[in-house]
Amino acid sequence: MGKDILSMLDVKDNLGALIADSIRLKSEVGKKSTKKSPPLAHKNIALLFEKPSLRTKASFSVAVEQLGGSSTYMGPEEVQIGKREAPSDAGKVLSRYFDAIVYRAFSHSTVVELAEAASIPVINALDDLEHPCQAVGDLLTINEKKGGLRGKKLAYIGDGNNVCNSLLLGCAIIGMDMMVASPSNHKPNQDIVLKAEELAKVSGAKIEVVTNPFKAAEDADVVYTDVWVSMGQEAEKEAKEKVFMPYQVTPRTMAKAKADAVFMHCLPAHRGLEVLSEVIDGEKSIVFDQAENRLHAQKAILLASMQ
Ligand code: CP
Ligand code: NVA
Repeated sequence: MGKDILSMLDVKDNLGALIADSIRLKSEVGKKSTKKSPPLAHKNIALLFEKPSLRTKASFSVAVEQLGGSSTYMGPEEVQIGKREAPSDAGKVLSRYFDAIVYRAFSHSTVVELAEAASIPVINALDDLEHPCQAVGDLLTINEKKGGLRGKKLAYIGDGNNVCNSLLLGCAIIGMDMMVASPSNHKPNQDIVLKAEELAKVSGAKIEVVTNPFKAAEDADVVYTDVWVSMGQEAEKEAKEKVFMPYQVTPRTMAKAKADAVFMHCLPAHRGLEVLSEVIDGEKSIVFDQAENRLHAQKAILLASMQ
């Protein structure tokens, strides 16, 4: 049983509950549980990573342990799905040992293929299309810092990548406005934008994709950026860095946003490229609270998916 969480669309109906649960789980850290057995007692979770990770790997292993379960990390060396092994075979095999799979992959289609073959829940730990665990953690952080989500404005400035796609869906589901500013050849995935616009009609969110970074930052509550070159795109580094320079988040960008705006970045960050150190190391930056919240949000994600 259980439920795959491969996209923000998989939490469309319970995103508010996931955030509420994350808040509760965060408040319980360090407190003695009154329950007889922890929620993931005797559960084993596979952490399957085709790409490097600091936050996702570390926060998932700590989350599983704090929930009373155990995890096994398999990194790029061992994984080699698609080369050494068909994704469907890997999904079937791991289902015989584990109770859930947390999977970071190059391609979204591999995640879907492995999840379809697996008989246990699969959680997307980032692929080329989405990073849902990041978006849930980020909404938890914004909710915490801004005292709510509905009607707030997130300006995403930079590459229309996996993180941007998941934030678009998350904001559209929850009723938060989001304006993306990216170069015209690096806009977010068109199907995701259409889906976000459709969801926004129901939630009342405003979703817009523009090319002018200052227009996006105008009156924003949150200014968000991510790397210009995602994992797997290393060959495009030189070309992308030239195109993206006008999208660098600087104190001038932050000055367009609300006076109490915060700066967010999923990390890892490159100071001097997508953001200046004055901003990411400045007083408006909440990137380390944001990174911490991955832990709390992923606990809620694990529980929701393994219910
Ligand atoms: N933000 C994030 O997912 O970081 P890692 O790539 O280090 O896991
Ligand atoms: N967009 C980045 C996010 C890293 C957490 C990447 O895919 O590399």
